[in-house]
Amino acid sequence: MSKVTVIGAGKYGSTTTQRIAEWDIVDEVVITDIVEGLPQGLALDMNQSRPLLGYRTKVVGTNDYSDTANSDVVVITAGLPRRPGMSRMDLIEVNAKIVKEVTEEIVRYSPEAVIIVVTNPLDQMTTLAADVSGFPKNRVLGQAGMLDSARFAHFIAEAADVDILDVTAVTLGSHGDTMVPVPSLCKVGEKHLADALDAETIDQLVERTRNGGAEIVAYLKTGSAYYAPSAAAASMVRAIIEDSAEAMPVCAWMEGQYGIEGVYLGVLAKLGRNGVNEVAEVDLTESEIAALGQAAVAVAEKVADLEAIEF
Ligand code: LAC
Repeated sequence: MSKVTVIGAGKYGSTTTQRIAEWDIVDEVVITDIVEGLPQGLALDMNQSRPLLGYRTKVVGTNDYSDTANSDVVVITAGLPRRPGMSRMDLIEVNAKIVKEVTEEIVRYSPEAVIIVVTNPLDQMTTLAADVSGFPKNRVLGQAGMLDSARFAHFIAEAADVDILDVTAVTLGSHGDTMVPVPSLCKVGEKHLADALDAETIDQLVERTRNGGAEIVAYLKTGSAYYAPSAAAASMVRAIIEDSAEAMPVCAWMEGQYGIEGVYLGVLAKLGRNGVNEVAEVDLTESEIAALGQAAVAVAEKVADLEAIEF
């Protein structure tokens, strides 16, 4: 039996659960939250959509971690989202406590799981989940690059006025200020990005992508984005469950690739049943590699902030 658990029944958690269930790729998706009744109600509602949409995956809503036992993949969405004007860093203390507690429960009930972290600030929370779990680093990864790349692709498609499905966009680095767009890997149809749009436009799109989450927070006022974020997280779950070995931009542990080691960083990695099969070291320009190195330094500095938190 294949089983995925999503922790947190907010918008991000519930839409992630919905996407995984509707794709019909696992037997069971468990959604859990501390709020009593919320995951149960969402699960019942989703299960009743099965005959209409024609899928079999069963959704289980619970407040009890024992129901999550023996999950193949666990997605941590638990934590507070940003409010307007907040940076992802403002969330660190409150979310670190939540992620630590949740990770301990995952280790207790699903010691063989792959953990995908989406809680912000993403790079620190992924590092924390890895440390608390004691899992091999390939079994703990974070979602950010998939989302940032999708946002970048959307903006490129709009600016170039082309079919969204003809755009390939890649961003690496961290989720936030040191996001590294990789123009050399971006394509519009058969053209390189630099041949499809002028440099000034590309710079504007990069900046808009870097602030892509905040732009939506400013509109929503009471929460952050969840449609594209859940599509990103669910796509990672699918690659792991299907053992696809697909290379995706994710937050993965670095062991010397591009000369970087000992830090979680957004890079292209091949995903499979064990989480990260391999960080795919692709051809980048010198300036892209330098930007990745700077992002690694920035993430390492931010991770040091975790030490100041009293758990
Ligand atoms: C965003 C949040 C999910 O970028 O980090 O929308």
